Amino acid sequence: MRRFFFWLIAVAVAVGVGSQAVAAEMGKFKYSDFEKPSSCGACHKEIYQEWSQSMMSKSYTHSWDEVEYFRLALPHSKKEPKVAGVKEGCIACHSPLAFLTGDIPPKPVSANTRANEGVSCEVCHNIVGTTEKEPFNFSFKVEAEGDKQGPRKDAESPDHGVVHSEFIQTAEFCATCHDEQSPYGAWVKETYREWKAGPYAKEGVTCQDCHMYRAPAIPAVGGKMRRDMAHHNFHGSHVPSKLAGVIDLALYANKQRISKKGKLVVRAELFNGKAGHMVPSGSSEERMLWLEVWAIDSQGHKFHLPVDKKGFKGEDYTIANSSALAYQAMGEIMEIKGFKGIKRDGNVPDGARIFRRPFFDPKGRMTICQWYTAENNLVDYRIGPRETKVETYTWKLPKNIAKGPLTIKATLYYSQIPSSLGEFMKLPKEEYKPIVVNEATLKVEVR
Ligand code: HEC
Ligand code: HEC
Ligand code: HEC
Ligand code: HEC
Ligand code: HEC
Repeated sequence: MRRFFFWLIAVAVAVGVGSQAVAAEMGKFKYSDFEKPSSCGACHKEIYQEWSQSMMSKSYTHSWDEVEYFRLALPHSKKEPKVAGVKEGCIACHSPLAFLTGDIPPKPVSANTRANEGVSCEVCHNIVGTTEKEPFNFSFKVEAEGDKQGPRKDAESPDHGVVHSEFIQTAEFCATCHDEQSPYGAWVKETYREWKAGPYAKEGVTCQDCHMYRAPAIPAVGGKMRRDMAHHNFHGSHVPSKLAGVIDLALYANKQRISKKGKLVVRAELFNGKAGHMVPSGSSEERMLWLEVWAIDSQGHKFHLPVDKKGFKGEDYTIANSSALAYQAMGEIMEIKGFKGIKRDGNVPDGARIFRRPFFDPKGRMTICQWYTAENNLVDYRIGPRETKVETYTWKLPKNIAKGPLTIKATLYYSQIPSSLGEFMKLPKEEYKPIVVNEATLKVEVR
């Protein structure tokens, strides 16, 4: 049997997505070297269903990905030499087959080409290693000679060879795509590095342990029954049930009874006991996690409580402010005359705490363009693995407050991107609608 054997070393070492070395390695393969996910699905029926529902199969096709690449990153790559490499860089992670075959830029989603396969079975199961000790920027090595890299020593398939891989079972495997450095050297995605610095890496709990749950199943028609098959759901922040309860929320008040002229101090504690990395992680430039604390009096009047300032550097970016504008780089890229930016915090009420890490472009403006990020270490106010954040709300009761029971309600919300950005880009609502991560209530008596 004639076999094709290719090596791809996507060297992205220290030069970031803008690397020309990467461009030189592109196009070493043909689409016909790789099978379609549906043909793997003929035998791997359930794994195929799981993958089809996951973000992996939508990494090129879902709306915000397409919009960000075609309306922002791609036009920007033609204007700004420093970011020229994002033309293929984005595609290397979001549609690796298009990158490996040199189909750059790929056709739009509506053309229904093979670029639409996204992070397919063939991508992950042909990755044989990485060029880096702590991988990032698609530094994977790919072979496409027919054998599939897999976790088991005793797997046998009538369709393909099987190679036992230690690498595919490691966090470093995931890191090849989940950590990213911008052309300016800023770490703009570092889920792996966050994990590595946290408690789970030391305890030997990998990405696969939390994102590919194990349960009894037969991995393929004609295969063996496995007690602990690795499922391919890859649930993350796009799945409300994975987000629900990811942060524990507890609420305290300094008094059970308070006079109408009194001052109430409410304390909220937020504990990340479930994620192996920061929450939010991944695309931190655009993720919104915020806590709203409301007081509702016995007549139904609602008051929003602003968070107490702590006084750390960059704190302003972590407190919602409806007059703050940001993301001006988008206007430049889209050539909108006189563009002043859009609301930085969407419609989060003024004074609410936002757990975020703001990114800044080379001109010092807050940005959602991760490839155009020069600095993002001013402040990182996300919630680390097993970390607890404590927020206080010192509130002098307003004159018009009614006597009787007062309900304090705290709600922790998550949204993929600020609502102002979703509206500006006319994205489908489900791409930015807020999800309730947790809520807590307590009652005090106003006398
Ligand atoms: C004709 C049926 C068939 C087709 C088509 C098929 N496979 Fe398999 N594959 C199997 C069987 C059977 C096994 C063994 C499962 C077991 O016993 O654990 C297997 C095992 C595997 C393994 C696991 C190896 C391990 O270490 O556990 C991987 C990975 C894999 N296949 C990937 C693929 C990919 C990717 C495709 C599509 C390009 C594909 N397969 C197409 C039947 C098939
Ligand atoms: C994002 C990368 C990724 C994609 C995409 C992917 N897999 Fe996997 N797959 C893995 C990893 C990682 C493992 C091993 C997990 C472990 O055991 O630690 C695995 C394991 C497997 C196994 C062995 C399961 C077991 O426990 O016996 C099979 C079979 C398999 N994959 C088939 C497929 C098929 C078919 C597709 C496409 C429908 C696919 N994979 C898509 C990463 C991927
Ligand atoms: C070849 C690149 C690649 C590899 C390897 C890879 N991923 Fe991903 N992964 C992606 C891309 C691209 C997305 C983003 C999909 C989107 O939202 O556009 C993604 C999305 C995800 C999500 C969904 C996040 C969300 O917001 O809902 C999870 C969870 C995830 N990956 C976990 C893993 C794990 C665990 C591994 C290792 C076993 C892994 N990935 C390996 C490229 C990769
Ligand atoms: C202890 C379990 C655990 C481990 C270990 C873990 N994760 Fe997660 N991960 C979660 C949970 C829970 C969520 C959902 C909360 C969220 O979105 O932040 C999540 C979310 C994510 C997201 C979506 C982040 C966002 O905010 O959009 C990505 C991407 C991801 N994980 C990738 C990884 C990768 C890559 C690794 C390994 C380096 C890893 N995870 C290790 C539990 C884990
Ligand atoms: C090193 C690999 C890598 C590169 C390079 C990369 N991405 Fe991503 N991208 C990912 C991963 C992994 C995720 C998922 C992280 C998460 O869920 O938070 C992601 C998430 C996204 C999202 C968020 C999807 C959502 O639903 O919120 C968009 C949009 C996106 N990428 C667009 C781009 C564009 C445009 C480029 C080029 C400028 C690019 N990416 C470059 C790996 C990469």
